[in-house]
Amino acid sequence: MRAEPSGVYRSELDEARFAIRVARVGWMTPELLPVALAYCRENRVSLLMSKCMGTERRTVHAMEQAGFLLMEAMLCLAGDLTRRLPEKPAGVVVRPFEKSDEKEVLRLAEACFAGYESHYHADDRLDRAKSDEIQVDWARRACASREVADQVLVAESEGSLAGYFILKSNTNEEADVAVAAVIPDHRGTGVYEALVVHSMHWAAARGATRITGLVQATNVAVQRTPMKLGWVPRYLYYTLHKWFD
Ligand SMILES: CC(C)(COP(=O)(O)OP(=O)(O)OC[C@H]1O[C@@H](n2cnc3c(N)ncnc32)[C@H](O)[C@@H]1OP(=O)(O)O)[C@@H](O)C(=O)NCCC(=O)NCCS
Repeated sequence: MRAEPSGVYRSELDEARFAIRVARVGWMTPELLPVALAYCRENRVSLLMSKCMGTERRTVHAMEQAGFLLMEAMLCLAGDLTRRLPEKPAGVVVRPFEKSDEKEVLRLAEACFAGYESHYHADDRLDRAKSDEIQVDWARRACASREVADQVLVAESEGSLAGYFILKSNTNEEADVAVAAVIPDHRGTGVYEALVVHSMHWAAARGATRITGLVQATNVAVQRTPMKLGWVPRYLYYTLHKWFD
């Protein structure tokens, strides 16, 4: 599981993007809920975004009663790397990104995520154009900083890039596919499968015993291939938003 700051905290990235006061809670609990609400009121926060484990039914109900709206349901899929890994498919070149790929990766991010419905997009009060910038910005930061990504893998097809994965180690044992994307005209061609398999080999080579990916429960396309390769559901959580004005 990705490390999350504890408690309630202001989100610099979101505040800079949306030009409003935004706070976040990693994982909401019944004890944290009143604390987070009081913090937001005291600090004149406009929007609180919070995740809550799907198993925390009472917390979800308390959040609903406090005026939160459900924005997305996320599923964590996990692949066991202690088993024999699938062979890297022939025919698709997958390699670590190079500095000279950056412009192309940003172009892919824009094309791959056009129309993508994140929890930001699901919130009618957030500017869609600004929400659209998130994946491009994420790709830019992943190409630039080891704090954002430990590796960016790119897939080549017919002389250009067809997809990319942003990879991060959660712990020594667990690696995570933070972003998975294939350009629309190369979907259904095996590019995604090649990226999934290469990400498993990348993680195993670093000593990880598990690889994870957080996917929207409604995004069937992203789930099928990892599941066919043996990845299984691990947990489900919700992202909820509450506005204070
Ligand atoms: C998710 C993504 C990487 C998958 O790439 P892809 O090339 O389409 O994947 P695959 O070729 O493995 O095929 C996807 C599977 O889902 C199915 N599928 C595709 N769209 C679907 C839909 N809307 N509903 C149901 N199933 C769908 C396909 O038929 C295929 O199933 P099959 O292998 O049993 O035939 C690509 O769609 C993408 O970049 N999407 C936008 C970005 C995104 O959502 N990223 C994930 C969150 S980070």
